[in-house]
Amino acid sequence: MITAGPTREALDPVRYLSNHSSGKMGYALAAACAARGAQVTLVSGPVALATPPGVARVDVLSACEMLAAVEAALPCELFIGCAAVADYRAASVAEHKLKKGDDTSGMTLELVRNPDIVATVAARAERPFCVGFAAETQALETHAGDKLLRKRLDLIVANDVSQAGLGFGSDDNAATLLWREADEVRRQALSPQPKTALATAILDHLVPRLP
Ligand code: PMT
Repeated sequence: MITAGPTREALDPVRYLSNHSSGKMGYALAAACAARGAQVTLVSGPVALATPPGVARVDVLSACEMLAAVEAALPCELFIGCAAVADYRAASVAEHKLKKGDDTSGMTLELVRNPDIVATVAARAERPFCVGFAAETQALETHAGDKLLRKRLDLIVANDVSQAGLGFGSDDNAATLLWREADEVRRQALSPQPKTALATAILDHLVPRLP
């Protein structure tokens, strides 16, 4: 199972919080898994991409919907959390379009934490091999290593999303893989390349490690 794309957190009937994920990285992984003969469920946020051949796609909008779809599709042998899940959602969604009112100084939105999908899957007693992504703009390996351990993942794909032409929205990406081996965090850098090729390189690394 693979998650891909952004989530969309409604503020009112016409507005939402989201991010720049296009879904390209997650869809490339889904296509690469299907090409190797895997039965693939792709839980996707709103993106403008065609479903890869042989992939079963479940469309969702919000992080809570994504978690529900993921839990409904379990169990699986391999879970890859590539979606850019919003960490927060509005504490309450307005029934009608929010009005500006008389206050010209601005407005304050109250946000609450969303569930952590990849950490929820990794915390299950019967858990799949769990792969997360880390989208960082600084201290890439430090933050990614922290997420690897804190979310109890088997592997994390760290990408620097501050580099022009890589990461969010682009056709290319670069990554550092981090995983635990013999009580140490090991690393392997994957150079800038098309997301389709990077997906293959990620699978080449992880498939031999699947239980
Ligand atoms: O979609 P593209 O345009 O191709 O761009 C690809 C990408 C940059 C979105 C992708 O490569 C990537 O980095 N995806 C993860 C983005 C992200 O949300 O990273 P994070 O560091 O905030 O989250 C760490 C991990 O926790 C991720 O596996 C994420 O899916 C997961 N997470 C985060 C929050 C949350 N509430 N639930 C989660 O499961």
